[in-house]
Amino acid sequence: MVRTRQPTEQTVQARINGISLAYHDQGRGVPLIFLHAFPLNRSMWVEQEQALSSRFRVVTVDLRGHGESDAPLWHYTLDQAADDVIGLLDHLSIRQAVFVGLSMGGYILLALYRRYADRVRGLVLANTRAQADSIEGREGRFQMAQTAYKTGPSSIADIMIPKLLSHETVHTKPELVGRVRAMIEGNQVSGIAGDLMAMAERPDFVPLLKQIACPTQIIASELDLPTPPADAQLMADGIPGARLAIIPGAGHLSNLERPDQFNETIRTFVSDVTGDASG
Ligand code: MLT
Repeated sequence: MVRTRQPTEQTVQARINGISLAYHDQGRGVPLIFLHAFPLNRSMWVEQEQALSSRFRVVTVDLRGHGESDAPLWHYTLDQAADDVIGLLDHLSIRQAVFVGLSMGGYILLALYRRYADRVRGLVLANTRAQADSIEGREGRFQMAQTAYKTGPSSIADIMIPKLLSHETVHTKPELVGRVRAMIEGNQVSGIAGDLMAMAERPDFVPLLKQIACPTQIIASELDLPTPPADAQLMADGIPGARLAIIPGAGHLSNLERPDQFNETIRTFVSDVTGDASG
């Protein structure tokens, strides 16, 4: 299989559901599992690994189709991504965890909760939404898959960067923009197209919200275009007892644009859920 990214020092691979998944596992304590956005990879969580692994066990994974994991040319679904994540937890002997998913990572968490609620100690749904795609949204996914197929991942970076990062970040933080571009360009077209199909086919998760019985933290950001704060409010209204934090001045990738506020929200939430007041 063609690889576009060299394995890093920290790469560990596990054989899960017939493919190789790359992950990073560091720290000790309550396990926190981080699921990245489309079309990125686990390195979007570096600031969270650095800030949180002194206190928690932090696991980040390249989802099927991304980064250093395999990107088979086949049909992708959110349920399959959830099965991969649970397969990784089994591999790591983690029975229950707090899960953090941003955007597509959040869609996967809703699918995961529906199948594996007993594995979930708490949920952090960041910059995501419960509604399915509109007809126009699905058509846009189809067009983006054609673009990826014809002209490759760098065209997808051109389309996605203005959606993922705020206008201010795009114009003032070239290093961060370069980092996001490198993540997107490091993916294979099979993975990008597979994700687009999986997201286009995802069900309406709104009816699931009232059944979510675990502690839930929702994170939104003020300047998020793909998943504006109204989407977060809808989840907060639907999930019993959910908390909502809105990060000012950030675009869609709130963990990269405002890592301190993002990390503090997670630290407080996990401490409250687990009764761990240390640190
Ligand atoms: C993401 O950040 O994962 C995507 O913007 C999600 C989407 O396209 O719906």
